[in-house]
Formats: sequence, structure tokens, C-alpha cells
Amino acid sequence: MWVEKYRPMRLQDVINQKAIVERLFSLVKSPASMPHLLFAGPPGTGKTTCALVLARTILGEPWRDYTLELNASDERGINTVRERVKTFARYAAQDIDIPFRIIILDEADEMTNDAQTALRRIMEETSRFTRFNLVCNYSSGIIEPIQSRCAVFRFSRLAEKDVVSYLGLICKKEKIKHDEEALSKVFESTNGDLRHAINLLQACSIIGDVTLENVEKTAGISSKNKVAEVVNLALKGDFKEARNKLVVLTGVYGLSERDFLKYATEEVFKLALPNTDQAAEALAKFDYRLIVGAHPDIQLAALLAELGRIGKEAGFKGK
Ligand SMILES: Nc1ncnc2c1ncn2[C@@H]1O[C@H](COP(=O)(O)OP(=O)(O)OP(=O)(O)O)[C@@H](O)[C@H]1O
Ligand SMILES: [Mg+2]
Repeated sequence: MWVEKYRPMRLQDVINQKAIVERLFSLVKSPASMPHLLFAGPPGTGKTTCALVLARTILGEPWRDYTLELNASDERGINTVRERVKTFARYAAQDIDIPFRIIILDEADEMTNDAQTALRRIMEETSRFTRFNLVCNYSSGIIEPIQSRCAVFRFSRLAEKDVVSYLGLICKKEKIKHDEEALSKVFESTNGDLRHAINLLQACSIIGDVTLENVEKTAGISSKNKVAEVVNLALKGDFKEARNKLVVLTGVYGLSERDFLKYATEEVFKLALPNTDQAAEALAKFDYRLIVGAHPDIQLAALLAELGRIGKEAGFKGK
């Protein structure tokens, strides 16, 4: 995946976000006085990237051992967070010369207020040896007492010229022919979200050169039709192909699991199988599992398997 391949490793490689990078550079100079941090801003603008770069820069070579990455919305509740933070803080307690351990808590704005209140306690209890780096889309989703304990960094959407020149660089490194106007089109369809832009570029490069026409074709691929295709394959019992296509949809095109379920439900009702009721129940079950935070890749694969059984019972051979 190009988004991972081209994720900056050093502060100076982060594009745009000049004021933020400058402030981070000065933090790195005297880490001992670093407060907790809160990164807020739109998707694909470098928040997680900066959090990782900062950990790497402050902690050096063994940074992975001293950095805990948690996804707040994935965890069942604040107790899981507390347990994991405690275990992490205990682990290798007396060790080499690092100023503190870092806990990156992504999607912190998805935590309930109660959980955040508990989190605030945990931050206080552990602040002697850890720093929290909270990451979220909306800082308004973070309770005031936490905000006031953090240095807040607001990320903005990336400007067209930065995105276009970054995409141009990737094309050069990947030895892919491209037109400037095609790259502008990628920007236009992704609205300053660099992750989405890079994914779109990669998807486009699979069908050929990066030309205006190919970008339009790729961007215009209707996710709905693709999901319908996956659902039909699954119902026909072709689990393997259905799963491959699903991975491309969520991984390369960045389709969210929720959108997948939404379109899958539409398709299932359209097909009107004799046992649509079973299919509806299966979809509802997996919808719920995703909400409570089960692993999306595993759950959607299991859904495809279940659709296979439902399709078999209905004798479904395809549209
Ligand atoms: N400012 C940036 N400089 C360089 N690359 C970036 C920048 N922002 C995003 N990217 C690219 O986009 C990818 C995703 O960025 P990142 O994970 O930092 O986004 P994010 O702000 O955390 O988004 P989200 O809110 O969706 O988690 C990175 O792997 C990197 O390739
Ligand atoms: Mg992120």
C-alpha cells in the first residue's frame, strides 16, 4: 500500500502543516518538558503520521518498545484502556535512557464522556512516566478537562499545490507516467485528504497511466456496484473471490465498513431471495458487531461466509 510506503518517517518530510511541524521541532529539542498532546483535524492530513514521527524522534531506535498505540473506538471500554496502559507502564519499568513512554490514543473523540473522565484520571496517575498523544477529528468531542491538560495542535486540510507535488513525487518514484491535470483531478475528488488521494492514485495506476481519463474512471467507479458484485459472489458461494474483492474495496478504495454494509443491505433486498429474512438478520448481526468494536476485516469475511450459506439454501446461482 502506497499510503504506508510513503508515510513520512521524519518531521522534515511532513508536508504542509508548517506551524505544527515547527512547534513539534521545538518539543523534540527538550522532550522532558513535553506536555500531553492533542492532535485534531480532518482525515488524511498527517495526525497519526506526526504522532508516530514524534515518538520515533524522541525515543530513538527502540521507539516501538516504548510506544503504545491504542484505538479508542476499538477498545471495549475504558477498563481495557486502563489495563493496557498499566501493563504497558509496568513492562520494562527500569530501563534505558528515555524521558517517558508514549501512548498514542487514536479516535479519542469517539470515547464517551464517562470514559474520558476515567481517562483523565489515568493520565494523571501515570504522568510521571508516560505522555499521552490523543488524536481525533473534532477537538469539540474531547472533554474540557482533558483539553486543558494538553497542548492542542490543529491540522488543516492540505492545499492543492502540496498534494499535487507529493503525488507527482510518488509517480516519479513508482515510474508512472502522469499528467499534471490528472493529479489536480485526484486532489479535487479527495478534498485535501492525502490518504484518500494516494489510494486513488494507486488504484488509477493499476489500470494504466495517470491521465485525466483514467482518474475520472477510477474515481467514478461506483462503490455501490462493486459492493453488489461482492455480495453476488458471496451468495453464489465464491467466498475466495468475494473476499479478494472486498479487500480491494476497503483497502485500496478506502470504502468504510459501514458503507459496505449499507450497500450490501440494499443489494440483498433488491435480489429478493426466498430467504431474505435470514440475510437481513445476518446483516443486522454484523452491523451490531462492528458497532461494538469487533475487528472489521474478520467480521466482514465472516459475513461473506454466512451469505454463502444463505445463498446455497436459496439455490442462488447469480442474477
Ligand atoms: N502532512 C502530510 N505529509 C505527508 N504525508 C501525509 C501527510 N498527511 C497525510 N499523509 C499521507 O497520508 C497517509 C495518512 O495520513 P495519516 O494517517 O497521518 O492521517 P490522519 O490525519 O491520521 O487521518 P485520520 O484522521 O483519517 O486517521 C500517510 O500514510 C501519508 O502517506
Ligand atoms: Mg489517523
